[in-house]
Amino acid sequence: MEQALQIQHQILALLGDHPWAGLLHVTDTADSTNTQLKLLADAGAPEGTCLMALEQTSGRGRQGRSFSSPKGHGLYLSLLLRPDCPPEQAGLITPMVAVATCDAIEQTSHVRPQVKWVNDLVLGGKKLAGILAEMDGNWVSNTLNYVIVGIGINLNQLDFPQELSTIATSLRLETGEKTELPQLAAQLIRSLHGMSLDINSRNRAWLPRYRRDCVTLGREVRIIRGPHSETAFAQSIDENGQLIVRYPDGRIEPVASGEVSVRGLWGYT
Ligand code: BTN
Repeated sequence: MEQALQIQHQILALLGDHPWAGLLHVTDTADSTNTQLKLLADAGAPEGTCLMALEQTSGRGRQGRSFSSPKGHGLYLSLLLRPDCPPEQAGLITPMVAVATCDAIEQTSHVRPQVKWVNDLVLGGKKLAGILAEMDGNWVSNTLNYVIVGIGINLNQLDFPQELSTIATSLRLETGEKTELPQLAAQLIRSLHGMSLDINSRNRAWLPRYRRDCVTLGREVRIIRGPHSETAFAQSIDENGQLIVRYPDGRIEPVASGEVSVRGLWGYT
């Protein structure tokens, strides 16, 4: 049997009668699961549709970066959400997905990653996973059609291409153990389903966990807007998931994820 189909069967067996079980598609290869899921979303696919690939040939990250997605080494999954909220609240989705992904990793691998605001999961000071949320909505009529959340987790790499080796890690490198893809995928789908209920009920019980696990807080960061960059102190995260920063001249500003890049001053975090 084709490997993707075999993994799909294993995940379905673990999901049992979960409401999203019938909406899972696993494929051997995709250019980008976010790109392919967008086609399904535009054709009317329902919330909970999930596309997972065993490898991506053009995996995408935030700000036009690529996401290395070699076969057999990672979890590459995109989920379609049709949240009942206006576009301005969609900014909360990325931190919610970060918490849901940390929960799933903790439940299956018994280590809890930290979060680099807003969308990177960190283990041992290096990047373990990334989240790319892409939305389709209409700002004039203030409606949100859908959000595609793409999650990429490094599972079983023992080494990385030279350009990534100082900033990237895998669960295998950090725990010494091989991660079983079906187990983690099933747990992630369960965790994301719980999160989707929280989005619609406006439940923010997850926010203290995000703040607790955020490595960016309490650090000097560089706020980069196009060609301009300023150093600031990351002091808190507000109810909308924005990073509150304080500049050396005393100005305090909330920073939304879409508008800036936030970098640590010393190394990756
Ligand atoms: C980042 O690190 O900036 C985000 C990386 C997101 C990668 C995932 S893998 C599944 C989905 N498909 C993609 O092309 N990207 C996301």
